[in-house]
Amino acid sequence: MSRLLSSLQRYQQLKLRKPRLRVEGRITRMIGLTLEAVGIQAAVGDCCQIAISVTQRVEAEVVGFSGDRIYLMPLHPIEGLQPGAKVYPLMDISGVAVGPGLLGRVLNGTGQPIDGLGPIDAEQHVSLAGEIINPLIRDPIKQTLDVGIRAINSVLTVGRGQRMGLFAGSGVGKSVLLGMMTRFTEAEITVVGLIGERGREVKEFIEHSLGPEGMKRSVVIASPADDSPLMRLRAAQLTTRIAEYYRDQGRNVLLLMDSLTRYAQAQREIALAVGEPPATKGYPPSVFAKLPKLVERAGNGKAGGGSVTAFYTVLTEGDDQQDPVADSARAILDGHVVLSRSLAEQGHYPAIDIEASISRAMPQIVEPEHLQMMLRLKQIYSKYRQNEDLIAVGAYVRGSDPDTDFAIEKMPLLKAFLQQGINDAHPLRESVQHLAMALAPTPQPGANSATVAQG
Ligand SMILES: Nc1ncnc2c1ncn2[C@@H]1O[C@H](COP(=O)(O)OP(=O)(O)O)[C@@H](O)[C@H]1O
Ligand SMILES: [Mg+2]
Repeated sequence: MSRLLSSLQRYQQLKLRKPRLRVEGRITRMIGLTLEAVGIQAAVGDCCQIAISVTQRVEAEVVGFSGDRIYLMPLHPIEGLQPGAKVYPLMDISGVAVGPGLLGRVLNGTGQPIDGLGPIDAEQHVSLAGEIINPLIRDPIKQTLDVGIRAINSVLTVGRGQRMGLFAGSGVGKSVLLGMMTRFTEAEITVVGLIGERGREVKEFIEHSLGPEGMKRSVVIASPADDSPLMRLRAAQLTTRIAEYYRDQGRNVLLLMDSLTRYAQAQREIALAVGEPPATKGYPPSVFAKLPKLVERAGNGKAGGGSVTAFYTVLTEGDDQQDPVADSARAILDGHVVLSRSLAEQGHYPAIDIEASISRAMPQIVEPEHLQMMLRLKQIYSKYRQNEDLIAVGAYVRGSDPDTDFAIEKMPLLKAFLQQGINDAHPLRESVQHLAMALAPTPQPGANSATVAQG
């Protein structure tokens, strides 16, 4: 019976995809990526097909209009388009094929498989937009999530359904850290969106970061930098939609998006192309409206349901934390992990700047003793940083300040505690125990310090 239903759904989908020939229009202008068409009846967000030649049609989306002219943005590169080319509107086709058959697969922004493993065995088609959950019926964040990274587990504890940002300049270790979390996090399903980054990284991520074991419980959506902006936008939405699908089935999902900045940039490209005026640093206002729309879809479902815990990487250009996208992301996320270039240059990985990072859900989800230890670590760390120059030149006199004395004594141990090898997982409980050992007032010169340093 369910097979019959699914076939029927597929048939309906095919039928819907058929162009409605009666209201075709034609292309009158093409500037950069934007196409202008007249004579066609379509609403913003609708999809159309553009006839490039007798055999070739390219899909495009309506992104705006002015009078009776409609602006379209193609999903794929267009070559050889002629003036007067025909445009056929399609009915709502932004459906996404979902089902257990998605696990282990790699898709592009339109949901088509790109791994050469044949068509996706889909159970149902759902709309790309997803259902908005009333914030009042969402389950609050109340359970911790073990991400396997010691510095995060102990100092920036993440809760199920929390949405975190990973802020850093380029080459500081965002992708590597995401890869580690993919392998170590205790999530049932991982949905990874590789949006607008280098194409080479897609293969690397699948082969090295995920590996065959990780891939079995993951879905990867890849839309590298050379995809059209619309495709990159769709890929980010598809990533979120697939995560929502698994959450609605009661699963605990880990959603990783690399990167949110590229998503914002894709929206910027589209908005500027259809004539929206730029506001902050070339970003038009619609970008800042789209960001929360995407991010708010992650999080917990209704009480007793599944969860989507999300990590979004945010590129801070020139290590500028005031970048408008970074600023906006920081305001809408439930916490941020900041990676520091200076730590990375010292070979301190993961290069997490614990002073600048925060997990907003942590106070509600950890034991009071754990919270106290986290605060103590931050205090000691910042004490050391304030006096670092004096200490380095030997101008600090021991005994002037007990906290600074303690910081000097503990610093090597704490630095070792905050570092971690690419292939070492540190579970939550162990991370908290190590934190307690690192902060213990009278360290045993042998056993305790050795455990932490080795880990
Ligand atoms: N945990 C780590 N251990 C060792 N080297 C690392 C680690 N994280 C990052 N690196 C180094 O930094 C480089 C850039 O990391 P990557 O994650 O690609 O940066 P980003 O995604 O921020 O641009 C890597 O190729 C690697 O050499
Ligand atoms: Mg990267």
